[in-house]
Amino acid sequence: MTELQLDGIEACVFDAYGTLFDFNSAALAAKDELGDDWLRLSDLWRQKQLQYTWLRGLGGRHADFWQVTGDALDFSLATLKIDRPDLRSRLMELYLHLGTYPEVTETLHRLKAARMKLAILSNGTPAMLAAVVESSGLDGVFDAVLSVEDVGVFKPHPSVYGLAADRLQVTPDAICFLSSNAWDAYSAKAFGFRVLWCNRFGQAAERIPATPDGEIKDLSELPPILFPAAQA
Ligand code: LAC
Repeated sequence: MTELQLDGIEACVFDAYGTLFDFNSAALAAKDELGDDWLRLSDLWRQKQLQYTWLRGLGGRHADFWQVTGDALDFSLATLKIDRPDLRSRLMELYLHLGTYPEVTETLHRLKAARMKLAILSNGTPAMLAAVVESSGLDGVFDAVLSVEDVGVFKPHPSVYGLAADRLQVTPDAICFLSSNAWDAYSAKAFGFRVLWCNRFGQAAERIPATPDGEIKDLSELPPILFPAAQA
């Protein structure tokens, strides 16, 4: 058990893809057509999707996450020599209905019952996020679902993290930010949030500025860190 405690947290802000929603679940659901290539496709799709967000940011050529996700899928299907427009459409549709990781729903309900303010802060477009929140039964759980589209640049641009503090009207040091994407966690810490890196995938520490306040292996570890007295 972790000894870590974070006091004075007024809001928990979650990354979406990889933290709440399992990006592998789209390709897995199409395993009947992808066969043994499903995980290779999924890995490549995710890596390319993130690369394109950073490339677009550096190049000053923003396009929304739906386009970037589709572009990354096109690259990945082409790499695997899969020329199937119907399968492309199916995978994009599945991206709107990703599954949650096993502990997510219960943890969010525990936090909400403790009157914690809850938000999503994601690269996803408002439509993508609304769809995945609804299809996973999390409607009504979040006080805010925030998209980078409101600032027109992807993570880890500091203005993205600033959006959460502004919209929630909570100072950065009273926000606990959670991401399984290490680069996102480190960048949110550099901005000034308190941060727990949800290291679901057992990755090595990053070598970029700012180290998160702590590391958890999944979100079920979060409530005792925020409410230690309630566990006694
Ligand atoms: C997001 C990506 C980074 O949801 O996972 O913002």
